[in-house]
Amino acid sequence: MPLTMGDIDAVCDLVNDLCGICLDSSKSYLIESRLGQIVEDHGCTSYEDLVRKVRLGADSRLKRQVVDAITTNETLFFRDQYMFEALRHKALPELIDAKEKTAFPTRLRIWSAACSTGQEPYSLAITLSELIPDVHRWDIQILGTDISDKVVAKASRGWYAKHEIERGMSPERLQKYFVPEDNGWRIRDEIRALVSFQRQNLLEPFGMSARYDMVFCRNVAIYFTREVRRDLFHRLAATMIPDGYLFVGAQEFLADVGPNFTPQHHCRGTFYRPNMRIPSYV
Ligand SMILES: C[S@@+](CC[C@H](N)C(=O)[O-])C[C@H]1O[C@@H](n2cnc3c(N)ncnc32)[C@H](O)[C@@H]1O
Repeated sequence: MPLTMGDIDAVCDLVNDLCGICLDSSKSYLIESRLGQIVEDHGCTSYEDLVRKVRLGADSRLKRQVVDAITTNETLFFRDQYMFEALRHKALPELIDAKEKTAFPTRLRIWSAACSTGQEPYSLAITLSELIPDVHRWDIQILGTDISDKVVAKASRGWYAKHEIERGMSPERLQKYFVPEDNGWRIRDEIRALVSFQRQNLLEPFGMSARYDMVFCRNVAIYFTREVRRDLFHRLAATMIPDGYLFVGAQEFLADVGPNFTPQHHCRGTFYRPNMRIPSYV
């Protein structure tokens, strides 16, 4: 079905309202390739008609299908080597030391926001289990969330095809942390037990009650407007402990988010500590 300018505007507005993602007319190929089948399957007369149906809200499945189709779920295991070096050699040892002085020295709460199909939270769980020998005696919860039901379901299953495993998982780790299953690989129960998944739209109020030691929000806010990014990172900081760590994508910079979002560089990786008091030099 041909796409008109009216269709493009209507779809861009809808996608922006549903998930904060800014599409523009240059993305018309993406709209056609990702939503064309849904338009046909639901007997819509045009893309604008599809938008009308989603906005009416009579079929909640339709809205979920559009979100599943329009979101870009690109991810891989141990994405951004330097970030994982900074995590392993600086942030985690520092956090573990700091925890020793608290009432709950073995409790860690980590949130992988916009986790796609789970490679990020599982890479975090593997990193923790490599760093903490008695990890299963610790009270660790890694929460993975995403707006797309489809990717949350896949992440929850913890099964990956060969081509997904080949993106970032070393042969040694594959043998250690996965079991072969259905022509692919499933994450071992010990690692799976450290991670839970749920749906969360980052534009909506966060339902979680935990105070996070670390939050990972990588490669999603790049699609949002400056205002939405600012608001998101301030709300994420509000979910974190006073000296918590925030990690963003390798190509993301928070210079325009506020004075507390000053990057800290370690092992060629970067993280932020948005709730730390800024030292006064006067
Ligand atoms: C490119 S993936 C990034 C995955 C992972 N964080 C990484 O860096 O490899 C972006 C993810 O953000 C999710 N997403 C997009 N808009 C969202 C929103 N408003 N709330 C929550 N997740 C969203 C998409 O469904 C997608 O899975």
